[in-house]
Amino acid sequence: MTSYNLLLLPGDGIGPEIMAEAAKVLAALSDLGLAHFETEEDLVGGAAIDARGNPLSDETIALAKAADATLFGAVGGPKWDGKGPFHLRPEIGILGLRKALGLYANLRPAKCYGPLATASSLHAELVSGLDILVVRELTGGVYFGQPKEIVTLQDGQRRAVDTQVYTTSEVERIGRVAFDLARKRKNLVHSADKNNVMRTGTLWRETITDLHAAEFADVTLEHILADNLGMQLVRKPGQFDVLVMDNLFGDLLSDVAAMLTGSLGMLPSASLGDADPVTGSRPSLYEPIHGSAPDIAGQGFANPLAMIGSLAMSLRYSLDEPDLADRVEAAIESVLEQGLRTPDIAAPGQNAVSTAEMGTAVAEALRAGA
Ligand code: NAI
Ligand code: MG
Repeated sequence: MTSYNLLLLPGDGIGPEIMAEAAKVLAALSDLGLAHFETEEDLVGGAAIDARGNPLSDETIALAKAADATLFGAVGGPKWDGKGPFHLRPEIGILGLRKALGLYANLRPAKCYGPLATASSLHAELVSGLDILVVRELTGGVYFGQPKEIVTLQDGQRRAVDTQVYTTSEVERIGRVAFDLARKRKNLVHSADKNNVMRTGTLWRETITDLHAAEFADVTLEHILADNLGMQLVRKPGQFDVLVMDNLFGDLLSDVAAMLTGSLGMLPSASLGDADPVTGSRPSLYEPIHGSAPDIAGQGFANPLAMIGSLAMSLRYSLDEPDLADRVEAAIESVLEQGLRTPDIAAPGQNAVSTAEMGTAVAEALRAGA
């Protein structure tokens, strides 16, 4: 039985509540003899500020680098809002980790669990069984390019500049992530750009085309203009498998894709860096899309499924245990089929279950071989 070393960073607000449910799922996988997990837990964000005066310590970064994968809850909350300098804010817990681990690839799945298909704003038949993975470049592009400034002109007007910059190596490495992931899925990549009006779009398209020919000719590649992708996502989302795009288009279109499928409390994500050339180990972080939800923290009814789905992603993409990832996702599907709903996904008037009841039910479904 393979043994894995996971770092758990629950963080603030509902973070510890949902992480406790992910831990139940890990325990169930261990008890079934499917894999063994060594877990280490550490403080991050506001909780780490309270205990150590620092949202992200060097020891935490070292633990994350050494781990096979890191599971992250959420950080932040009103308790720390507007207090202290920026480098001592809870958000540094996540921003600092992304930077320290070099996480340039952001993976956002839009997977629709059948029993929730009727909750989508699209017709159920368009989203039922939907399983799209958006791969967003996270550390380059217009959010970081220089110059980036607002200047006052001689005539008194103000002029703002943001600069979109990409190099071939930046495009190649995100393209490689997308093609690799597609091989573990339906082997189809759509690369989105604005090749028609942007120089970075031309570089993007040429680089992806060359990379595909050189290393990934077995994967089907389609190029699509980013605005058309926006239309196609709401018209016929089932045509897509893996989508790869730059930071800006990825920011917008990953939100569109994710919301095809339902609630914030259901949506996981992953961020990946480059594999170490010597050890082969690849830094990675798995977290729900949502934040620390201070408005419902401590009440025991946060939805833990985004966190548990993030754990499933770590099994698939960092631990190379796709069968276990499938089992965890099947267990989520089965509790939804049983009708279990936390309040955020419950129908009006429907009885809802607590965070702990939902987590226990997923673990039980796993044990029952769902
Ligand atoms: P949020 O995602 O925490 O909450 C938005 C709304 O969704 C709230 O009404 C919340 O109750 C609900 N919600 C979120 N997750 C839920 C879940 N699992 N189950 C049921 N309902 C859920 O975003 P918000 O309110 O803008 O931010 C709250 C705090 O979280 C802020 O301090 C913010 O900075 C931080 N944050 C942290 C992130 C991270 O750690 N990666 C990401 C986004 C926000
Ligand atoms: Mg966004």
